[in-house]
Amino acid sequence: MFRWIAAGCTGATLLIMIYRKLFTHTAKCLSTRTLAGKVVIVTGANTGIGKTTSQELAERHAKVIMACRDISKGQSALKDIRKNTKNGILVVKQLDLQSQASVRQFCSQILEEESRLDVLINNAGVMGHPFTLTEDGMEIHMAVNHFSNFLLTNLLLDLLKKSAPSRIVFVSSSLHKRGTVDFSMFDKKQKHPYSNSKLANIYFARALSRNLDGTGVRVHTLHPGMVNTELSRHSLSRFMRVLLSPLAWFLLQSSREGCQTVVYCAVSEELDHVTGRYYGKCKEEPWTEIAKENSMCKKLWEVSERLTGIANNVS
Ligand SMILES: NC(=O)c1ccc[n+]([C@@H]2O[C@H](COP(=O)([O-])OP(=O)(O)OC[C@H]3O[C@@H](n4cnc5c(N)ncnc54)[C@H](OP(=O)(O)O)[C@@H]3O)[C@@H](O)[C@H]2O)c1
Repeated sequence: MFRWIAAGCTGATLLIMIYRKLFTHTAKCLSTRTLAGKVVIVTGANTGIGKTTSQELAERHAKVIMACRDISKGQSALKDIRKNTKNGILVVKQLDLQSQASVRQFCSQILEEESRLDVLINNAGVMGHPFTLTEDGMEIHMAVNHFSNFLLTNLLLDLLKKSAPSRIVFVSSSLHKRGTVDFSMFDKKQKHPYSNSKLANIYFARALSRNLDGTGVRVHTLHPGMVNTELSRHSLSRFMRVLLSPLAWFLLQSSREGCQTVVYCAVSEELDHVTGRYYGKCKEEPWTEIAKENSMCKKLWEVSERLTGIANNVS
């Protein structure tokens, strides 16, 4: 009897391992680079991919500024990370990407307090949120996932340039393929607003990488894979999430696995001399056709400048 149970368990474990190897996005960042003396900002660091990324970078001895909407959630994430590693320096700071005023306040604090910034990780994101206009009058997915990233990144650019070689990492999504950027719809209900905002990440990253050519600031964009996080909190009820959690555990990557491509883009020596590329499973992937539309990159930049009040030029 026990032999049958043991054989069943071994078989099931093997099947899970084969499934995960073939169908989930799992890969590992193999770089052993450490980041002592380096400063990293991770947005949305209190949970999911942002939290595990913060832990991985602290383990590599970085000073990690965990930019969180809710300070108490950020502090409790910091405590969790400290149970796993004593390395690095962890600091929680308040940043609400729904509000351009909050982004500006966060950036002035950083510029006042930090003498360098080596890596900026634009990770925070929202998906499946009911239609809402932010205080700046924008649809919430575009506001949080794109416009605030645009403002934040531009306000921190001089510090990143001063600290070069430095990196800006955008956590986008393969769902950008379903997106469209409609310039008349930023303050209206859209079809696929999450995908649209993830496409906007890509257009912004591509324009930015060209704009920063020769400055030593590299721009990397990625898809983390399908990761078991709280991202579905607005699209599924709590009951459904609890019900589906065994399936999610089985089918999706853990957030520790899901942060590997983010960490790869932030630290890997393989990316020291490249910029403006797209990664998945810790390796380069080709840009999709829709991502290659350079005229959209330029137009989105110009509109974003106007809607965030930033005046910068893009080539
Ligand atoms: N999970 C996936 O399968 C998957 C796949 C492709 C791409 N991604 C991308 O990965 C990134 C991280 O997502 P995740 O899966 O880790 O999701 P998550 O667990 O829901 O984490 C999202 C983070 O973003 C923060 N955030 C949301 N709205 C914010 C705001 N207004 N201001 C500041 N922070 C805000 C959240 O803070 P609160 O907890 O306070 O809300 C949270 O820390 C996102 O950009 C997402 O698009 C995820």
